Amino acid sequence: MRLKARDLLGIEELDLQDIELILDTADGFLEVARRPIKKVPILRGRTVVNFFLEPSTRTRSSFEIAEKRLSADSVNLVGSGSSIVKGETLIDTGRNLEAMSPDIIVIRHSSSGAPHLLAHKLRSSIINAGDGFHEHPTQALLDAFTIRQKKERLEGLRVAIVGDIAHSRVARSNLLLLRKAGAEVTVCGPPTLIPPHIEKLGAHVTSNLAEAIEGADVIMMLRLQLERQKGGYFPSLREYFYYFGLTVEHVRRAKPDVIIMHPGPMNRGVEITSEVADGPYSVILEQVANGVAVRMAVLYLLLGGSADEEAA
Ligand code: CP
Repeated sequence: MRLKARDLLGIEELDLQDIELILDTADGFLEVARRPIKKVPILRGRTVVNFFLEPSTRTRSSFEIAEKRLSADSVNLVGSGSSIVKGETLIDTGRNLEAMSPDIIVIRHSSSGAPHLLAHKLRSSIINAGDGFHEHPTQALLDAFTIRQKKERLEGLRVAIVGDIAHSRVARSNLLLLRKAGAEVTVCGPPTLIPPHIEKLGAHVTSNLAEAIEGADVIMMLRLQLERQKGGYFPSLREYFYYFGLTVEHVRRAKPDVIIMHPGPMNRGVEITSEVADGPYSVILEQVANGVAVRMAVLYLLLGGSADEEAA
């Protein structure tokens, strides 16, 4: 089986078969991290440009490590070190990068739709590494991979996504994926940080944290995206923590085998206590580890790989 699309722009564009293909392929790549020589020759001679116009620790390093493990040649460019700061447009930048014949361009941008624009204008495959408030598809895929690894399924699970839903591309991509996979999703946050009409995507909505996590199989905490918040969405960080910060007492309301997730970076003491983040239910660093295998799968499949040919 092969991926139907040439680009990975969002979960919206994937069907459940594509999602399962990516997760199954990632399963096969997981063991590469445990080898003494962490490299397979699958993308030898291929070139990937990682173009990040917003800060990133996990996604950027995860893509670069995934590319190197597949033996691809990686080029890393950040917005502040590119000629965008001299006034070059995104499309001109993309066309100039493409003139050097990369196979894939991975882009993170503060504007929703920037990866779609490049996909429309360029021949290279485009991977969305996070665009504005819109989508972060590889984060949702690695989250789904981690949930499936721990729970052996996605269908029928109760997932609570808590925090700054309005500014979170992670929440949107996860909601889309989890609903496609048949999970039950509750989003929870201050009413000012819940986007209008989110229930049309199949989410239950509440501003009561206890209600959101009652009986949950998975609790996914989100970062307060203060850099994207233009107004006073809540009175103070102290008050936010009081109503929406995840503590050990809250976790007791969930299922006994609940897993706690966070895409990072975390604001400790704001959306989650250190006791929970570093506690026995936390899979936060496993999410990061799994991200490499999932991104290897995405890169491999977008360049025409199939689930049957994988590995070596
Ligand atoms: N989860 C995530 O996107 O983290 P970074 O911003 O560090 O890439």
